[in-house]
Amino acid sequence: MCGIVGGVAERNIAPILLEGLKRLEYRGYDSAGVGLIEKNTLHICKAAGKVQVLADKVKASKVRGSTGIAHTRWATHGIPSEKNAHPHASSEEIALVHNGIIENYLEIKAELASKYEFKSDTDSEVIAHLIHFYYAQSQDFAAAVKQAISRLKGAYALAVICRNNPRQMFAASRGAPLVVGIGIGEHFVASDSFALLPVTRQFIYLEDGDLAEISREYFTIWDKNGKETERQVQEILQEGSTDGAKAGYSHFMQKEIYEQPSVIAATLEGRIHAGEIQTTSIAPQFLERLKAAEHIQIIACGTSYHAGLVAKYRLEELGISTAVEVASEYLYRQNAVAKNSLFISISQSGETADTLAALEKAKKLPYLDYLTICNVAESALVRASNFALLTRAGREIGVASTKAFTSQLVVLDFLAMLISQAKKTPIKNSTITAYGNIPAEIKRLLELNEEIKKIANEIKDAKSCMFLGRGAAYPIACEAALKLKELTYIHAESYPCGELKHGPLALIDKTMPVIAIVQAGELGEKTMNNLHEVQARGGRLIVFADSRVNTNTIGEENIVLSLGVCQEEIFPILSIVPLQLLAYNCALLKGTDIDQPRNLAKSVTVE
Ligand code: G6P
Repeated sequence: MCGIVGGVAERNIAPILLEGLKRLEYRGYDSAGVGLIEKNTLHICKAAGKVQVLADKVKASKVRGSTGIAHTRWATHGIPSEKNAHPHASSEEIALVHNGIIENYLEIKAELASKYEFKSDTDSEVIAHLIHFYYAQSQDFAAAVKQAISRLKGAYALAVICRNNPRQMFAASRGAPLVVGIGIGEHFVASDSFALLPVTRQFIYLEDGDLAEISREYFTIWDKNGKETERQVQEILQEGSTDGAKAGYSHFMQKEIYEQPSVIAATLEGRIHAGEIQTTSIAPQFLERLKAAEHIQIIACGTSYHAGLVAKYRLEELGISTAVEVASEYLYRQNAVAKNSLFISISQSGETADTLAALEKAKKLPYLDYLTICNVAESALVRASNFALLTRAGREIGVASTKAFTSQLVVLDFLAMLISQAKKTPIKNSTITAYGNIPAEIKRLLELNEEIKKIANEIKDAKSCMFLGRGAAYPIACEAALKLKELTYIHAESYPCGELKHGPLALIDKTMPVIAIVQAGELGEKTMNNLHEVQARGGRLIVFADSRVNTNTIGEENIVLSLGVCQEEIFPILSIVPLQLLAYNCALLKGTDIDQPRNLAKSVTVE
């Protein structure tokens, strides 16, 4: 997965492309490049590393052009390096940027091996040569692109330019997103409309299999059958609350952690208010579906998967059997679909390739219906689902997800309440009221930051950490472990407390911090018993506990952080916040790249 921007204009578009790439760095940031046509000359400038390295190089080299393509990469084939960075050129005539994976690239490469010198290890370079191969025969750019893409197997979004046709660009999308941005006397393409918001608010989202020809004055779109087609123009009125600025915070992730009270308030708006569940914004057909649902299948990846795991506890409390699976596993096995089963995908970006592919697979199976819980209204997942409940977290830029996760938990709980209402299962008033308290409760927990910094100092040199929890605190332990490994590269494992005795206890010694999340009540008491087992074996405990939990038995050599009184229903949503701060502070101390951890990307649009 990678980010693509391109455009055909009158003005020099190098600055537009570079700004677009910066906005797309969430899709990958190991190398970047730009290809520009100026007076029938194709200039290519590439750099290993982040987009800023490329921007400095472009500035120094003074390359410019009014037609161009640009790319920020997340390596799939070939290591991150300048030679593997895009654009890939063929015979200094054709230049191409690609996002996705071409499954039959070796076959095509073998075919072209005697005719072209391959300069990179990528699957993408073969497409550039293939287009050139056809172009050399006919001198017809459009025909060459059409012929070449008809040969490709796999997923792609690509943009291609030709030195001899400087006012024209082709863009194709199959299994990877691409939008066309409509300007005045200029047109653009990008992997995400966000890249183009500084130049236009009008977009066309290409559909699967679409090919677009773009010029200054017009654009034409052909569908997957090669038929010229019209696609609806969509207008994005607002850039969103997180418009790229850190607003005084040191990192986007820090800003996003501190935004949680306000984004959760926004996510609750019109849904849960003053102790009441509001359904006016919910489609009646959707409520009918919820009434009929007897089973739920949740599919997601990464942090969104953890949100699904938390939701399972709530949904099963209501008597709705729920299965949660990572999308990549759901994809490659036989799936038995329970009667009246509702399929739910969860995704921050709505572009995750595995999640999208799982939805496509599920659509061929006899599910009752398809709902997505997503943060991006214009995303592929929302467009491909019959129903969507949007989290209103605003744009999340930090690669490690924070505010999107807590917003997902709120929406999933709202969904559980809608199901209860549809099935006429009583919901306690105190449960509904608790949600209104979340913003203030999170603000209170954010004030623990100074104490959390001290804990971060205690664990920063650990080689490995273990996170424990019971009940819904277990998926919170999973999410906390994920945050720590993403940000600090410290190995972190998560276990349900009851599993400790079945193996992981063997790992316990004084060098490995064991971080436990303890809710009030019976489950909390059981967790404390397990922590005594750790303590008895000389383990180093760090306990994040509701203040009602009796932690007096935890020895003084250990650490207890009181979370105050957290109402049971919202404990998962609240308890992750101090653990996000723990990972953040630990990364600060270690000096790692907080917003863009090594080897990762915000949105994984390849399988
Ligand atoms: C990537 C991100 C994770 C995210 C996961 C799923 O791995 O780095 O933070 O949780 O993708 O993304 P989604 O957008 O589908 O929630």
